[in-house]
Amino acid sequence: MPKLKTDANKPINEQKHEIREGQSHELLKELHILTRDGKMNQDSRRKLKQVYHLFQFIEKLLNELKSRKPSISLVDHGAGKSYLGFILYELYFKNLNDNSQIFSIETRAELVTKGEELAKRLGFTGMKFLNLSVADSTSSQLLPDKIDIVTALHACNTATDDAIDFALKKQAEYIVLVPCCQAEVAASLRKVKAAALAKSELHSLWAHPIHAREFGSHLTNVLRCLQLEAHGYKVTATELIGWEHSMKNELIIAEYTAKPNPQAKER
Ligand SMILES: C[S@@+](CC[C@H](N)C(=O)[O-])C[C@H]1O[C@@H](n2cnc3c(N)ncnc32)[C@H](O)[C@@H]1O
Repeated sequence: MPKLKTDANKPINEQKHEIREGQSHELLKELHILTRDGKMNQDSRRKLKQVYHLFQFIEKLLNELKSRKPSISLVDHGAGKSYLGFILYELYFKNLNDNSQIFSIETRAELVTKGEELAKRLGFTGMKFLNLSVADSTSSQLLPDKIDIVTALHACNTATDDAIDFALKKQAEYIVLVPCCQAEVAASLRKVKAAALAKSELHSLWAHPIHAREFGSHLTNVLRCLQLEAHGYKVTATELIGWEHSMKNELIIAEYTAKPNPQAKER
């Protein structure tokens, strides 16, 4: 179990500050997870909990990679404010003293600039920020041909699929996905609803809009897992953290095994 510091005797909004050993308050303040006076609101607490949970999964993969490689490359897609990247860097990469790198891919230019400025201020020299879409990053010269680990935490809609495509092209050894909202399959389900209503009992699975959305999201993730298995990955799909912390909670971890599964491809 990771060591947690809890401030049980502090005022109500300072309670249950669960900040990991090695995590600086300065970084959390810069990321606006902590306020200037060291407090944390509900949303920030939720976010930090999610990122720490994900960190526990990713740390094991990083240890495995580090045991046999001189350095590690990680690409985080749809990075946003790069909470995940900064926390991974401070808790893990900073102490490696090698050429390991984290690349944050993000389409919002202002977030890329802010990330660059913060990394510079903190001396996080192994962090790079690229103002690219996930799809464009796949062919960008700014990234190495091979990447060890690809992450995408709540990358919007099909950005998760672009991240899978990126990972396959970059022969990633590990892929860690927490998908966001998925609209594409739900839209297709809605389109075929009338025809399906006439033909099949199965239409009940998505007859109501909320079911079309949820079933569409479920189908999307099933397809993603099959795609990864078809490309030689062993896939684990599980929940990231209790539902009270996030509604978008499915965690997909894929490990390359070089054994493509033809049945998954067929399915
Ligand atoms: C919901 S936020 C998640 C941010 C971050 N990963 C986190 O969990 O805090 C999704 C981010 O992905 C970015 N994004 C959406 N589509 C993208 C794409 N196709 N390529 C790169 N970034 C994208 C958005 O600008 C946004 O910052």
